[in-house]
Amino acid sequence: MKAYIEQLRKELHQHNYNYYILNSPVITDKEFDDKLYELQQLELNYPEFADPLSPTQRVGSDLTGAFEQAEHQYPMLSLGNTYSPDEVSDFYQRVQKALNEPFELVCELKYDGTSISLIYEDGALSRAVTRGDGVKGDVVTANVKTIRSIPLYLQGESYPAKFEIRGEILMPWSVFDQLNIEREAKEEPIFANPRNAGSGTLKLQNSAEVASRRLDSYLYSVLGDDLPFTTHFESLMAARSWGFKISEAVQVCSTLNQVFDFIHYWDIERKNLPVATDGIVIKVNSFRQREELGFTAKSPRWAIAYKYQAEKALTRLLSVSFQVGRTGAVTPVANLEPVQLSGTVVKRASLHNADIIAALDLHIGDSVYVEKGGEIIPKITAVATELRNQDGERVKFIETCPECGATLTRIEGEAAHYCPNDQHCPPQLKGKIEHFVSRKAMNIDGLGSETIQLLFTTGLVRSVADLYSLKVSDLSGLERLGLKSAQNICKSIEQSKTISFEKLIFALGIRYVGETVAKKLAQAFKSIDKLSVATVDELIAVDEIGERIAGSVVLFFADEQNRQLIAQLREAGLQLRLNEESDNKISDVLLNQSIVISGTFRYFSREEYKKLIEQHGGKNAGSVSAKTSMLLAGDNMGPEKLKKAEKLGVRLISEDEFLSLIGQNPTRDESSQPIQQAPPQMGTLF
Ligand code: IVH
Repeated sequence: MKAYIEQLRKELHQHNYNYYILNSPVITDKEFDDKLYELQQLELNYPEFADPLSPTQRVGSDLTGAFEQAEHQYPMLSLGNTYSPDEVSDFYQRVQKALNEPFELVCELKYDGTSISLIYEDGALSRAVTRGDGVKGDVVTANVKTIRSIPLYLQGESYPAKFEIRGEILMPWSVFDQLNIEREAKEEPIFANPRNAGSGTLKLQNSAEVASRRLDSYLYSVLGDDLPFTTHFESLMAARSWGFKISEAVQVCSTLNQVFDFIHYWDIERKNLPVATDGIVIKVNSFRQREELGFTAKSPRWAIAYKYQAEKALTRLLSVSFQVGRTGAVTPVANLEPVQLSGTVVKRASLHNADIIAALDLHIGDSVYVEKGGEIIPKITAVATELRNQDGERVKFIETCPECGATLTRIEGEAAHYCPNDQHCPPQLKGKIEHFVSRKAMNIDGLGSETIQLLFTTGLVRSVADLYSLKVSDLSGLERLGLKSAQNICKSIEQSKTISFEKLIFALGIRYVGETVAKKLAQAFKSIDKLSVATVDELIAVDEIGERIAGSVVLFFADEQNRQLIAQLREAGLQLRLNEESDNKISDVLLNQSIVISGTFRYFSREEYKKLIEQHGGKNAGSVSAKTSMLLAGDNMGPEKLKKAEKLGVRLISEDEFLSLIGQNPTRDESSQPIQQAPPQMGTLF
């Protein structure tokens, strides 16, 4: 069996390489998934043959604690940046003068991501460390293992026994766009560019979440003692043969003109790449010559970065319009005289909020610079005040809602303005219905934005509760809706009555309550009746729920119309409580206990402990307060939590103590799976 498992792993590593490095898979995704599933099952059944670098480990786990730090063997320096061709010529001449012999340069793309250092020992990935302060960085191995283009084991046999390889971790544009769509739907702040999104992802505590973000990598420096290479190019080609993703855009140049050709070619071509680049890096090829050139205090004398100008265009601000979203947030949008920028015609740019408008001191008719750097939405970066026409009126943020006339409000400490009329403001009502029916919420088919508009204007549906009294005959008479579509919509509405409680909470569209928060609320309060009377204190005791979310939940249920809505949804037969079966109650041994978990554990993951706490009647809380009954303390627990627990006299309980408290044998065998556990002996400790 061991040999078979190893063979399966080898095959899967190869398929990963074919897919993520060579871009030429030889099996279908389904075949890959089936093999991976088979391996997962075998690893579960034969834990004695476990391998931390198995392809199954790429899906990540939620076990990661706070990051350890590690010192870099060679400091991670930065490069001198230039923006002009003249400075590139200066660099070339400096190198020429210092070496006083023929030399070659290697031109590469400058990837706009997060730099990473990977250590390989005996052909296996042993550690991944971020740049940090250049001297030491965070150890993010568990997260990096989820990146499919980073080999866990190397190919061939020619690799050195120990070496380091550096490169960039990147979030592809396609993943970034999708992530932002999802974040926008949840009204979470969107990432400004893939670099921020990628580096944020790399620092997530949950490597399963990292795995879902499909990061990519490009490697560009091989380091080590006594490496068998005389040139950088040679080392890159060797690294490619070991299985690393080395860009095709690497060129050895022996003249300055070749360098400029590379710069000009890639200025256009880079826009077709799946990841962000912001310039090129020019490096001396020979390692001996690099040694001769040496370093300044901050950067090597043998390399330089040429940064492409962020693309800019000058155009005119025609007007500013204000859009109202489903939660009432008002977004100002600049309407511009159409202008070409990075291959697209730009007519609109986001102005984000009132502070940005004020900082730009915008006037209608102003000549403005629009930029599309790493960002997806073009933005106005400056006003050419010297071209200002004196008649232009200063742009003022509106005071009343452009849709319903209500006076806008601004929450202290927040940049956004809101329309408070959430029960009557049309875009908010329509937005709420669109959100309610969406796939991740109640998953009601056939109700696109236009149909919802139709239902809204005909007065058939003014709130989500009205969906549940719709009849086929109401719908089939509507413009563009035939009998079949009407029947399908009604069927899908009917089916939505079985959608889980947590999805229903998400579907309600409570401000700041995204999918994850909804899940936490459902698990903590179990029913809408309990959730609707929860106080801010009770809410913030739940893991990851802060005051902002808690306040918003309380406000939602304090509203009489929302309470009526819940009554109507109850009448319609929706799931307003957690399904007891999924609850898997084991005992009441932790009843009325509010427990905080901190640190990393030996026998179960944090998520599993949370589940166990609930299964034994306890409540999970995110932060230590006077109401905390105990703190389940693992290794490397947060010092703040510990300090607070000691100050408040909260009982600290070790992993072993906790397991014996709930009657679990602290060994990880089949009988200790959290869900299938038999009830413990009651009353042993309480
Ligand atoms: S070589 C001594 N090559 O740009 C530094 N860096 O400002 C040698 N980068 O920290 C770095 N693409 O994060 C190198 N092809 C490339 C690169 C690259 C992106 C980043 C890297 C580095 C920063 C330098």
